[in-house]
Amino acid sequence: MHSQIKILFLLLLTAWLTPELCAQAKPVDAEGHQWWQHAVFYEIYPRSFADSNNNGVGDLNGIASKLDYLKQLGVDAIWITPCFPSPQVDFGYDVSDYEAIDPMYGTLQDFDHLMSEAKTRNMRILLDYVINHTSDQHKWFIDSRSSRHAAHRDWYVWRDGKGPGVPPNNWQSTFGHSAWKFDPKTNQYYYHYFYAEQPDLNWHNPAVEKAMFDVTRWWYQRGVSGFRLDAVDTLFEDPDLRDNPILAGTNKYGDPEMEDKYNKKLPQVHDVLKALRKVADEHGAVLIGETYTNDISELKKYYGEHSNELQMPMDLMFGMVNKLSAPEFRRQIAAVDGAGGWPVFVFGNHDNPRSYVRYGDGQHDDQIAKLMAGLYLTLRGSAIMYYGEEIGMTNNDPQRKEDVQDPIGKTGWPKEKGRDGERTPMQWNDSANAGFSIAKPWLPVPASYATHNVASELKDPDSILSFYQKLLALRHQNHALLDGQYVALNQEDPNVLSFLRKYKDEAVLVVLNMSAAAQNVSFDLGPQGYASAKGNALVTTDKALNGEHTLQQVSMQPFGVYIAAVSK
Ligand code: GLC
Repeated sequence: MHSQIKILFLLLLTAWLTPELCAQAKPVDAEGHQWWQHAVFYEIYPRSFADSNNNGVGDLNGIASKLDYLKQLGVDAIWITPCFPSPQVDFGYDVSDYEAIDPMYGTLQDFDHLMSEAKTRNMRILLDYVINHTSDQHKWFIDSRSSRHAAHRDWYVWRDGKGPGVPPNNWQSTFGHSAWKFDPKTNQYYYHYFYAEQPDLNWHNPAVEKAMFDVTRWWYQRGVSGFRLDAVDTLFEDPDLRDNPILAGTNKYGDPEMEDKYNKKLPQVHDVLKALRKVADEHGAVLIGETYTNDISELKKYYGEHSNELQMPMDLMFGMVNKLSAPEFRRQIAAVDGAGGWPVFVFGNHDNPRSYVRYGDGQHDDQIAKLMAGLYLTLRGSAIMYYGEEIGMTNNDPQRKEDVQDPIGKTGWPKEKGRDGERTPMQWNDSANAGFSIAKPWLPVPASYATHNVASELKDPDSILSFYQKLLALRHQNHALLDGQYVALNQEDPNVLSFLRKYKDEAVLVVLNMSAAAQNVSFDLGPQGYASAKGNALVTTDKALNGEHTLQQVSMQPFGVYIAAVSK
């Protein structure tokens, strides 16, 4: 009898869960695409998005209060950078409990509320999973450091030094100086690729793997649609601890330049990704990877040989390109588009200066912000936006060392000012503190908030925000932009980047003038099967190009954008 009840319960549970799972995994179009391939993702740095309790730091209820804004903008999924309990040494990337919310951001109930508000709007939530390391305040590490025989000792990487005061090898932390910290309690060193307060987990230990996989299950059951996996390439270290090769020169921390040969990108990373993906697949979830590489063959590997690793390894090259260059973008796009997986172009995030300053020339910055949106929101692939980029937020770097919050800015000053500049409060309106909070915000807002803010830009049809709205609306309903093949055009042009997105009988032509001079361009789309020599403007920054226009001669204004439908 008892077992019959159990079976009945399991059947009911399966019936209840199945439609939800199927709905998540069901392809959304005839090409078999999944929801995340057509989704627009939006990265939220929770400290800086919206402060509901006016203590100067953003929170989950703040995010919930802005979901309508995001929906109206055209965002389908939000990725929240770590909001778990944390001593905040690395502003959340030092997690002390993976299954809770930091009181600074709210409670688990607030998270559930945010989740249900998102669901109501048909939006998804992704969390940031820091899998390489924990905080030194995590209970696993507290136990690990307590004794050489502790239950969690082998959950981290502990080694003897080479002698008194000499670490086990020459590996350096990416945040400066030795990657080993001596712990007098047990007379051994522990390894940390990032800050000393972020000890690396020992992924060779199956118990670590099990515990970390269970965390993902716990959140999937709470409704999250996937994770952005932090720092995936540093999960494993050479067990023999071989010294890394030293290169010429010194880095920004004054340490010798070094090739991270034995503590980065070890092949075992791919085994973990495959296993994490299996769990994700059971829940119809998506895995986005923080995959820093400028080597396309390496990027390819992250998709997995049988598409069984990350669905969305991020192409972060654009995030690091500082200058507008049609040939350079053309080369990079072709490489990623041809890598065999679904491209994930990233132009900005919380670790790199904002795209507004990276590409801006000081004279045409707003126009250039539209140009960059015109580029990455029309490419094949999933788009990941960074909060505030849609209103043209600029960097606000600290001017004095004593104002720096990000520890790498303290260690590396003045060469490295840290990442505060790209993490400032979202600019909601032109009232005090840009409407982010009544209290003094944890980072100062830049003066540009007076003109670059959501409220003002929503009223201005020519604003950067209005441009994003138009583009995102187009992207959501245009088949060629969603699914069309990418075909580079006029490949010798040094100034104008142009391409076609071809889909059956439809195509969209995208023309982007990456120069400060007006340019005349001409297109012959006959060889592509589109003999009609006319374009029908869909979105453009130049009113003269509105309506129907010949493609024999397209006059592009400096940094102008022309996006047009072409037909057979
Ligand atoms: C990733 C995060 C970065 C963090 C680091 C350590 O690179 O994006 O912000 O400092 O990992 O967790």
